[in-house]
Amino acid sequence: MSKSDLFEVIETRHSCRAYLEKPVDPNILTDIIERAGRTPSNGNVQPWLVHALTGQPLEELKKIAAQTVKTQNPHINDAEFDVYPSDMVEPYVSRRETHGANLYRSLNIDRDNLDLRLGWYRRNFEFFGAPVGLIFCIERQLGQPQWADLGSFIQTVTYLARGHGLDTCTQVAWSRIYGTVADFLNLPPNHMVYCGMSMGYGDPSHPVNNFRMPRAPVEEICQFHGFD
Ligand SMILES: Cc1cc2nc3c(=O)[nH]c(=O)nc-3n(C[C@H](O)[C@H](O)[C@H](O)COP(=O)(O)O)c2cc1C
Repeated sequence: MSKSDLFEVIETRHSCRAYLEKPVDPNILTDIIERAGRTPSNGNVQPWLVHALTGQPLEELKKIAAQTVKTQNPHINDAEFDVYPSDMVEPYVSRRETHGANLYRSLNIDRDNLDLRLGWYRRNFEFFGAPVGLIFCIERQLGQPQWADLGSFIQTVTYLARGHGLDTCTQVAWSRIYGTVADFLNLPPNHMVYCGMSMGYGDPSHPVNNFRMPRAPVEEICQFHGFD
C-alpha cells in the first residue's frame, strides 16, 4: 500500500457542494459500498443501512423534498435527534460559526441575509446537484456506540469515493425532513434517518468548492502522555 495515496485521499477530501453533470458508474458505487462494509464496528454488528439513489428515484426524492422545504423552514423542522445540543459551549460554537462564515463568504452571501442563506440551505435537498444521493439509516433500538460505528462507515465511504476521484458532502440536513425521506423510501418504522450524502464529480470552478475549512491544532485535540 502506498502511504502517499492514502494521505492524498485524506488531504483532498472536502465537503463538495457543487457537482459536474457527469454520472457515477454504478460499479464504482457498488465497490465503494462493498469496501466500506470493511469498516470496523463494535462486536462487528455493522449497524449501517444505506439507500443509494440516482436517475428517476433521485429526481423524485428531490422533488418531494423541495415541496417539503418550500412550505417548511428546514432549520425549524427538526430531526428526530438533537443535531446540536441546545447548550453547546466553546470551542464548538466558534468552530461552527467559522464554518458558516467561510461557506457564506465563498458564496458572497451576507451573513445577515437570512433569505439568501435559507435559499442556499435548500440546495442541500437537491443534493447540491450531485448525480448520486445516499441516505444513511440506523435501527432505532441501537445506541450511541452503534451511531459511532455508523459515523465510521460514512467516513469510509467519503474516503473510498475520493479514492475513485469522486467528491462527497455528508448532509445531516436530510434528517430534518426525515418524515418525507422515510415515506419516500418506505422505511420500516424502526429505521431512522441519520443523514444524507451527495456524491459525484465536483465542479472545481464553483466558488463554494474553493474554500477549505480550518482544523484545530494538534495540541488542542490531543494530550500526549509519556512521549517526552
Ligand atoms: C455528520 C455530518 C453532517 C454534515 N451535514 C452537512 C449538511 O447538512 N450540509 C452541509 O452543507 N454540510 C454538512 N456537513 C459538512 C461539514 O460542514 C464539513 O464536514 C465541515 O465543515 C468540515 O469541512 P470539510 O468537510 O470540507 O473538511 C456535514 C458533515 C458531517 C460529518
